[in-house]
Amino acid sequence: GAPVEVDISKIEPGQLIRVEWRGKPVWLVSRTESVLKELEQHDGSLRDPASEQEQQPSYAQNKYRSIKSELLVAVGICTHLGCSPTYLPDSFGEQVEGVSSGFFCPCHGSKFDMAGRVFQGVPAPLNLVIPPHYYIDKTTILIG
Ligand code: FES
Repeated sequence: GAPVEVDISKIEPGQLIRVEWRGKPVWLVSRTESVLKELEQHDGSLRDPASEQEQQPSYAQNKYRSIKSELLVAVGICTHLGCSPTYLPDSFGEQVEGVSSGFFCPCHGSKFDMAGRVFQGVPAPLNLVIPPHYYIDKTTILIG
């Protein structure tokens, strides 16, 4: 499949943009300062906090799993059986106490944080996949 160009100039804080790449949903999610801070506070509840077992490009092998901390780019497919998780920007606390936003898979209840990292005690075995991508310029990303 061809690479997909995405304009992120209009993305609002907390907003998720969904595009399609190779027939898969890819999410671009704007993360606020408070979300980034939160990501550092629940390593103990995650299956693989340092993402040592996942598919991700080397440039996303860092604590935010991203090139720029304020933007998450991830394949929006649950690593359990392939459903697409729901983004809960405000009500994720009902799923994981003390974590305000994240992704919840309605199929069998897997939960992922705002870096796509899976929480313990759910069926999904791995963190969400980070697709190959790069910034063409400040507001344009090429996926693929
Ligand atoms: Fe997501 Fe099973 S497909 S929890």
